[in-house]
Amino acid sequence: MLETRDLHKSYQAGEARVDALRGITLKILAGEIVAITGPSGCGKSTLLHLLGALDTPTSGQVYLEGHPLHSLNDDKLTALRRLKIGFVFQFFHLLPTLTVEENVLLPLLLSGRVNPLARARAHDLLTSVQLADRSHHRPHQLSGGQLQRAAIARALIHQPSILLADEPTGNLDSASSNAVIELITRLARKEKTTVLLVTHSQSVAATADRQIQLVDGRIQS
Ligand SMILES: Nc1ncnc2c1ncn2[C@@H]1O[C@H](COP(=O)(O)OP(=O)(O)O)[C@@H](O)[C@H]1O
Ligand SMILES: [Mg+2]
Repeated sequence: MLETRDLHKSYQAGEARVDALRGITLKILAGEIVAITGPSGCGKSTLLHLLGALDTPTSGQVYLEGHPLHSLNDDKLTALRRLKIGFVFQFFHLLPTLTVEENVLLPLLLSGRVNPLARARAHDLLTSVQLADRSHHRPHQLSGGQLQRAAIARALIHQPSILLADEPTGNLDSASSNAVIELITRLARKEKTTVLLVTHSQSVAATADRQIQLVDGRIQS
């Protein structure tokens, strides 16, 4: 469902060029839960951005369900992202002025797809992440673990084919981390969503079906 071929990404920072990805070739099967590990600065977030159509490669190919992300324009990438991809980040990225429920519905609001069915799905997801009683609260009234659970509901509201999570437990204590990982795994299996999970934690990585270890912009194992 996701494939890259000899993917390279370089950043130009003033005079210096940073080669963040140096030839990544991988295949992810539908329904797999894959952990991406590796030291800080090895290119994990860069890879996730390319796989999630948030950025384009310097060279190489990325195919998401057969769509060539490397050769689509910004409008097409945005459309594909809104339809097929869910994101979870380390710092939650919920909008402070919206309620929890509005935050969860946001991906659908952006593409004008909020209807009674969507509201019912938001309610179901909020129940799954144990936040049904917090629907009308604002983000500042929630704990870190609750914020991340709300972010997971938001990432899944549009039934994406792939969920990309960049260190989703990086800002949580170990109890909340376990709950968040358990939730991502359980919901992904239930919804048959493919998951790519960037993590520093070996115990988190061990819960995945498969691990891809990056070192210095390349796959080490
Ligand atoms: N926008 C950017 N401009 C310049 N360099 C960048 C940019 N984003 C990332 N980098 C560099 O690319 C390398 C990989 O970064 P990143 O993908 O964020 O690594 P990781 O997520 O594994 O910590 C690092 O050396 C980082 O400093
Ligand atoms: Mg990173």
